[in-house]
Amino acid sequence: MSWRIKPLDAILATAEKKSLTRTLGAWQLTLLGVGAIIGTGIFVLTSEAAQFAGPGMLLSFVLAGLVCGVAALCYSEIASMVPVSGSAYTYTYAVMGEVLAWMVGWALVLEYAVAASAVSVGWSGYFVGQLKGWFGIELPMALVSGPYAGGIMNLPAVAIALLVTGLLIVGTTESARVNAVLVAIKVAALTAFVVLALPVMKMDNFAPFAPMGFAGISAAAASIFFAYVGFDAVSTAAEETVNPQRNVPLGLLGSLGICTVFYMLVAAGAIGSPLGAQPVTDALGNWLSPGSPELFARCGELAGLGKEPLACSKEALAHVLREVGYLNFGNLIGLAAFLALPSVILVMLFGQTRIFFVMSRDGLLPEKLSTIHPKWKTPHIITAITGVAVTFAAAFLPVGELAAIANAGTLFAFFMVAISVLILRRTQPDRHRPFRTPAVWLVAPLAIVGCVYLYVSLPVKAILVLPIWGAIGLVFYFLYGYRKSHVGRGIIDVHEGDPDAPPLPVPPMPGAPTPGGKDA
Ligand code: ALA
Repeated sequence: MSWRIKPLDAILATAEKKSLTRTLGAWQLTLLGVGAIIGTGIFVLTSEAAQFAGPGMLLSFVLAGLVCGVAALCYSEIASMVPVSGSAYTYTYAVMGEVLAWMVGWALVLEYAVAASAVSVGWSGYFVGQLKGWFGIELPMALVSGPYAGGIMNLPAVAIALLVTGLLIVGTTESARVNAVLVAIKVAALTAFVVLALPVMKMDNFAPFAPMGFAGISAAAASIFFAYVGFDAVSTAAEETVNPQRNVPLGLLGSLGICTVFYMLVAAGAIGSPLGAQPVTDALGNWLSPGSPELFARCGELAGLGKEPLACSKEALAHVLREVGYLNFGNLIGLAAFLALPSVILVMLFGQTRIFFVMSRDGLLPEKLSTIHPKWKTPHIITAITGVAVTFAAAFLPVGELAAIANAGTLFAFFMVAISVLILRRTQPDRHRPFRTPAVWLVAPLAIVGCVYLYVSLPVKAILVLPIWGAIGLVFYFLYGYRKSHVGRGIIDVHEGDPDAPPLPVPPMPGAPTPGGKDA
C-alpha cells in the first residue's frame, strides 16, 4: 500500500510553478457556483423527488441542503488553506495520502463527468418540450432517449455535451462571461416560478404529507441532493481565483445559500399547484419506482387519459406553471431551462478537467494530458477526452440513474473532505486558516454522518457503482500512477529558488520505487 503524502507546502509550490491564470473574483465565483448548482436537479428531478416522497419532498430538500451546508463549511476551511486546483483530491493527497487521493479523484469523475451527462439528458427533455411547445415539432422517440425507454440514443443530449466541450476548449474567460448571462436567466426563471406559483398554492395538497413514509423522504433527499451538487466546483477554481482565501469561502457559502432559499420556495410552489406532488401508482394503487419501465408505462397510460402528474413530467417546472394556467409563462420557463442548463454542464466539465489537470500534473495520469493550449490557454487535450466520455454516457443512460451515480461519487468526496478537515486540525493545528469551520467537531462529524445517510438512501445500483468504480480505479493506479507519481519518484516542488527551475529531487518516501529505474 502506498500512503505517500504530498506535503501542503509542496502542493502550494507546484501550483505556483505550473499555474493557470488568476482571473476570477468573489462575484464570479458565486456565479460559477449558482451556475453549477441550479440545473437539472430542480428543473427536472423535482418530479422524481415527488415520486419518491410526495409532498414530503419539501423535507427532502431541507435534509439534502443541510448535509451540503455542513459539507460546504468543511470545504471552505480546507479550500481557503489550500487554494489550488483539484478540490477534494488535492486535500486528501495532503492529509491521507496518495492512494486515497487517487480514489477521491477517481470518484470525482463520477461527480463531475457523470453529472455533466445527467444535466445533458435533463436539458434534452426541455429541448424536446420546447420544439413541441413553440413549433409543434415532435422528434422521433428513438432519437431522444436511450434504450432504457425504448429509444436508440439521446441525440439532443449528445449535441449539447459536444457544444459545451468546444466552448470550454476555447477559453475560461469567455466561458465565465457566457456563464454569467445564463445564470441570470436561470435565476429569473426560478423567481418567476415562485412569484406565479406561491400565491395560488393550495394547502390541502400538502396532505398526505409523507405517503411513502420517512424512507421515501430519505430516498428523495438522496436523489434531490443532485440539485445541490456543484457548489464545490467553486473550490476547483481556487487556483484561477484572485485572493482565494477570502473569495473561495464567499463563493461556496454564498452560492449554496442563494440556491437553498430558491429550492424551498420552488418545491412549495410545485406541491401547492393544482398538479400536487402525490406519487403515481398503478391501477391497483401500488407505488412505482422512479425510472422504472412500469412507471414509464403507467405515465403513458395516464397521458392517454389526458393526465400528466408531476412525477411523469420531463419538464417539471414548466409543466407546473402550465397547469396553474400560465401557458406562456410555462413555455418561457422551459425556454429558460433550455438556454441555461448548458451552464451547469459547462461548470461540471470545467471542474472535471481541472481535477484531471492536477492529477496529471502530479504524475498520476499521463502528463501529456495537462498540456496547455498555446493560444487558448486551456487544458485542451483533457477537456476533449472528458467531453467525449460525457457525451457517450448522456447518449445512452437515463437522467435519474446518472444523477444517482453522480451523487454517490460526490458524497464520497464530501465525506473525505470532512475527515481531512478534522485530521488537519489535529496534525497541523498552527497552520494559518483564513476561514475556520465553526464548531468543527460538531459540523464535520455531522457532514460525515449526513453523507453516509444519503449514500445508503440511494438506489442500490448507485450504491454499488461506487465500490466497483473504485476497484477499477485501484487497478489503474497500481498499473500507472503508483510508478509514475511525482511524489513516489521523489519529485517534490519547493518554494525556494527559481520558479522555472526543474523540480528538486528529494529522497524517496518509504514504499516508493527506486529512483534510477525507467520511471525516475
Ligand atoms: N446541481 C446541478 C443540477 O441540478 C448539478 O443540475
